[in-house]
Amino acid sequence: MMVRLPIAGKTLLPLLLIGAAACDATPPPVGMERGAELYETCAPCHGDAGSGNVDIAAPSIAGLPQWYVEDQLRGFQNEYRGDHAEDLPGLRMRPMAVSLTREGDVESVAQFVASLDAVYPESTLHGNAGVGAASYAVCVACHGEDGLGNADLHSPPIVQLDDWYLLNQLRNFKNGARGARPDDVWGATMRVNSLVLTDEAMQDVIAYVQTLR
Ligand code: HEC
Ligand code: HEC
Repeated sequence: MMVRLPIAGKTLLPLLLIGAAACDATPPPVGMERGAELYETCAPCHGDAGSGNVDIAAPSIAGLPQWYVEDQLRGFQNEYRGDHAEDLPGLRMRPMAVSLTREGDVESVAQFVASLDAVYPESTLHGNAGVGAASYAVCVACHGEDGLGNADLHSPPIVQLDDWYLLNQLRNFKNGARGARPDDVWGATMRVNSLVLTDEAMQDVIAYVQTLR
């Protein structure tokens, strides 16, 4: 649209140039709108509602807290996760985190993921929750009686996650695909807790976690 400005032609050009420079300096958009736009690249694997897709081992991520999603996206970027030859799901996810290069994008997409309602996927494993209850006693310190986690300890909520995904992660911690980097301080606090668990004990404790819903 043409606007007739009540100023002389001589002063108009410098004003327009200042306007263009100000545009270049505008910081990239941050927040929900940008997060929703970015999430379109996540949806093919995690689903429009963030409910996940077991066929490609992409977990339900809907409603995970923003701080945890940010932690994990940076974790993938820093090769704390998704850098182990046998960790195929992690290898699938890592390039997606690496692609979030623009300032504020990690925060924006994490904010969007956190805004989705948690979906509590159905159980697929058959561990013994009664036996698992005893093992869970040590998890309480960080993940809470209710399995809702503790932001101060960077411990995520685990009640609303897929049981098959929880098993994959406990195995990853135990075999060193996750939490084994010397600079991954929070991953290391979790890893020590996985080392004592047999595969059967993992399934039992997961069965117990799912009773906390
Ligand atoms: C190509 C498929 C694919 C795409 C696209 C994808 N992911 Fe993932 N994502 C995965 C898989 C597979 C895992 C499980 C990794 C594992 O088991 O360690 C995962 C794991 C995650 C986790 C870890 C969840 C947890 O509880 O620790 C987060 C967070 C995540 N993805 C967020 C995103 C976001 C945000 C995007 C878009 C920017 C995205 N993903 C795009 C496949 C994908
Ligand atoms: C000392 C604190 C601490 C204890 C005790 C602990 N955890 Fe964790 N746990 C963490 C932290 C911190 C993380 C996140 C690590 C990261 O950022 O990669 C985590 C992550 C996890 C994850 C991965 C969740 C996801 O979304 O990928 C699972 C599963 C888990 N813990 C289960 C357990 C179970 C089961 C126990 C008890 C046997 C346990 N934890 C005990 C601190 C702890």
